Amino acid sequence: MPEVLCINGGKKLSGTVRVSGAKNSALPLLFATLLSSEECVLQNVPDLEDISVTLRLLRSLGAKASYEKNEVRVTAEQIRGTEAPYGLVKSLRASFWVLGPLLARAGTAQVSLPGGDAIGTRPVDLHLQGLTRLGADIRMQHGVVVANAPGGLRGAKIDLAFPSVGATHNLLMAASLSRGETILHGAAREPEIVELAQLLSKMGADIEGAGSDTIRVLGKESLGGTSHMVLGDRIEAATYLLSGALTGGVVAVTGIDAPALQSSLNLLEGFGCQIETSDNKISLKSNGELSPVDFATEPYPGLATDVQPLFMAAACVAKGKSTVQENVFENRFGHVAEYRRFGADIAIDGRTAVVSGGLPLSAAPVEAGDIRAAAGLVLMGLVSEGVTQIRELYHLDRGYDGLVEKVRSLGADISRMPAFESKEVVFGC
Ligand code: UD1
Repeated sequence: MPEVLCINGGKKLSGTVRVSGAKNSALPLLFATLLSSEECVLQNVPDLEDISVTLRLLRSLGAKASYEKNEVRVTAEQIRGTEAPYGLVKSLRASFWVLGPLLARAGTAQVSLPGGDAIGTRPVDLHLQGLTRLGADIRMQHGVVVANAPGGLRGAKIDLAFPSVGATHNLLMAASLSRGETILHGAAREPEIVELAQLLSKMGADIEGAGSDTIRVLGKESLGGTSHMVLGDRIEAATYLLSGALTGGVVAVTGIDAPALQSSLNLLEGFGCQIETSDNKISLKSNGELSPVDFATEPYPGLATDVQPLFMAAACVAKGKSTVQENVFENRFGHVAEYRRFGADIAIDGRTAVVSGGLPLSAAPVEAGDIRAAAGLVLMGLVSEGVTQIRELYHLDRGYDGLVEKVRSLGADISRMPAFESKEVVFGC
């Protein structure tokens, strides 16, 4: 039965939460397991809908895959299927990242085009250009990318016109099983890229430069099994730190080191919060009186596009005018219409939003449009007077492992209830 998330806002949050493993790392790592016929073990994998979908996809391709207590074991001894159908790719855009490893391992792959989504048109041209450079023959048939490399892929020089995270994942995986050397210029530098390169190296690949904009890969004929502990989720960490920032609390996150989210920590300080970091722990102190800040999203090491909806909630609380510039996706302001329901004053002009913050915020019924918009609505609910009800919770379940329990442990009055249509019943939650 569909549920609604009820938040009785206005409480100061304080305490410590442990972040889960990063979804955006775990997904490419899971796809990379297809590159080996031996067992790969991933620990600290978050319990999320996106992970279940990925495991279903791996099984449909012939891999044995199990999940127990945040540990995934995958053995892709043989690849039996080479197709990622529309239903899966549409529900989980990252499943397009199966294209590179599948093509490299099986010599053929048919992956449905993901199409656009709530945050933009999201083309895949850079993935396809790069794989073509590696020698793949790529055609479109009825909305499906049909890729073939019967004689195997061969290393090449590839220039990415934009440091796409997804394209870098796909090409790193494909290059690891290609003949010869690949040099990837203009690569994405996100921590998730570095982590994928670490996993591939443990599997036997020869990779240098991950984390810089030029990555060199010396492909291998085969890769072996390995085990790896997924790093903490930097976006989840920023979400909980912001819950303390907005409500004037003292919140710490553990299970993550500061450098991965340095741009978010700098911005929190810009809003007027105090940050302390130590080994595997970040603490935030806020008096709830935030100062307005202008900020912009950029490829790493700039501010992640994923935290933009979250920081916009902070801008709604900060007294005065903040401007928010979204430089990664062309349409990532879907949450603004919902934020306005709380009484926020936000004007949009193209990729810029001007937030006139500090107005009283009052609880409202709202609907989540994507994962981070859903988390942004939670933050808005935590700081608004009254009971907020958030619908379309599957977005939250795709990306946040145990958010309700974690935020409740910080002192929030938050619970999931069956979503009845009747207003009277919902208002009672
Ligand atoms: C992006 C984010 C990533 C975040 C993820 C989930 C960046 C650079 N990437 O990764 O940090 O975790 O969303 O929200 O911030 N593009 C093309 N052609 C392509 C591929 C991408 O034009 O073939 C464009 C996209 O339209 C977009 C930009 O490049 O404007 C970034 O896309 P990309 O990094 O590939 O997106 P994700 O991998 O989803």
